[in-house]
Amino acid sequence: MSQATGTAYESDRYVGKVAAVTGVASGMGRCIALRLASEGATVFGMDINAEGLHQVAAEAAALAGAGGTITTRVTDIAEPAQCRAAIAECVDQHGRLDVLGNIAAVSWMKNTADVTTEDWRQMFAINVDGTYFMCQAALPHILASEGNIINIASNAAFMGCAYLVPYCATKGAVVQMTRALATEFVKEPIRINAIAPGGTDTPMNRDYQLADNTDYKLLKRSMAFRPLDKPEHVAALFAFLASAEAANIHGAIINADSGMTAT
Ligand SMILES: NC(=O)c1ccc[n+]([C@@H]2O[C@H](COP(=O)([O-])OP(=O)(O)OC[C@H]3O[C@@H](n4cnc5c(N)ncnc54)[C@H](O)[C@@H]3O)[C@@H](O)[C@H]2O)c1
Repeated sequence: MSQATGTAYESDRYVGKVAAVTGVASGMGRCIALRLASEGATVFGMDINAEGLHQVAAEAAALAGAGGTITTRVTDIAEPAQCRAAIAECVDQHGRLDVLGNIAAVSWMKNTADVTTEDWRQMFAINVDGTYFMCQAALPHILASEGNIINIASNAAFMGCAYLVPYCATKGAVVQMTRALATEFVKEPIRINAIAPGGTDTPMNRDYQLADNTDYKLLKRSMAFRPLDKPEHVAALFAFLASAEAANIHGAIINADSGMTAT
């Protein structure tokens, strides 16, 4: 029984597999880590939030399922040296690496005039540098295990969202980084893909603050017709995409946005 969803999973498709996942202290990363553990994975969970890491590890310990576990490491993915150290620690601890999930990111809404140099650079350091340097550090181990990488992009990579200009730019970069890596490694027996969720019910989405002069007509452009998605749906897709069942999916950006980018 998964504590993340209250749903029983029959699968043991991750038994013997090691998954390094960023952003596991909250939202989608937490659900992905618990879902993979419930299907037998040894999850190496990373986040900047030590308290959230502690909680998810405790939740995993209470999981009944295929017997997976979550070990954790406080990691600031904005620091390339920390990305390298975290992946090295994962492989030292668990002996291999089969799946890398780049989930951690930040987002906030601001008028372009209010975005500081520091704001811009910090968002790129986390959302883009963090994803890239995790991929770079993990690739030798993913090649050794013939494993795979999944990056989390966003609907914001495919549409112009007012007040989210830096975020849209970082997620566009994640999409192109994924395609370019998939091309560079197309002759190798590994897979590199991205999931592009739409509005999902997590702290990131709930915590957006709007400026007093927000133009709601502009904002409406990036609203979905359907209710917010659930992080458990992204976790279910991730668990399929990172498994052997998705053997022919490589270089794909899979939209999971309840039609947001289709309309
Ligand atoms: N929630 C949405 O509506 C939505 C929509 C599309 C895409 N996304 C993407 O989904 C992914 C997960 O987002 P979420 O909604 O679960 O958000 P969340 O805020 O709930 O979780 C993000 C996690 O990343 C961690 N993090 C932030 N900075 C970090 C750093 N420097 N180093 C390590 N960890 C750090 C946070 O501590 C947090 O635990 C993100 O890539 C986000 O951009 C979210």
